[in-house]
Amino acid sequence: MFCLKQPTDGGWATEALCDVDATLIDHAHCEMKAASNVLSLAGRYPTDFDLARALTDLAREEIDHFQRVLSMLAARGVALGPPPVDGYAVELRRAAHELPREPFATALVDRLLVGALIEARSCERFKLLVEATEGQAEHTDLNALWGELLVAEARHYRTFVDLAVRASGGDRGRLVARLERLAELEGAIVRELSHGGASRAPRATIHG
Ligand SMILES: [Fe+2]
Ligand SMILES: [Fe+2]
Repeated sequence: MFCLKQPTDGGWATEALCDVDATLIDHAHCEMKAASNVLSLAGRYPTDFDLARALTDLAREEIDHFQRVLSMLAARGVALGPPPVDGYAVELRRAAHELPREPFATALVDRLLVGALIEARSCERFKLLVEATEGQAEHTDLNALWGELLVAEARHYRTFVDLAVRASGGDRGRLVARLERLAELEGAIVRELSHGGASRAPRATIHG
């Protein structure tokens, strides 16, 4: 899906649905982190009006997603708890730092590319969850929520890529080439996590 090089393995959705509460907790934290991330980026580049506008629009949507997942948790009588260590995001940022230095690839550009990959992976996994819950009466609400969010995260992926193209000077070809390189590294991180690798994060997470 999109630029992803490593599909999530077939058993992931089944595992995620074995503990829906844990999956929703992880999902809620992912939405909050997505909102915090774009707000922190907007605060770092406040003089770029168009960027700040696009990022704060994203933040508004991610907060809405967070609140909707929170409502699902509340309806199930489940507390959110503190966020776990996000091994996937940590490794992905580290991977971006390890990419070759190229003049157009500023810190902002690489952060936008990391954002694009996180959106792509979330979108892929929402799709798996939608497919796995299709027609299941006990998961009607979740199926609808994940179906709606996968469309939003797909749009966010495109927004991040477009913002990265703009921030890198407008050459889409060279930007996409860098995104493809980072996607290879992201695939390796996902493979490692799916085998219970370096991260302590549970396997059934929305990303990673
Ligand atoms: Fe979201
Ligand atoms: Fe998103």
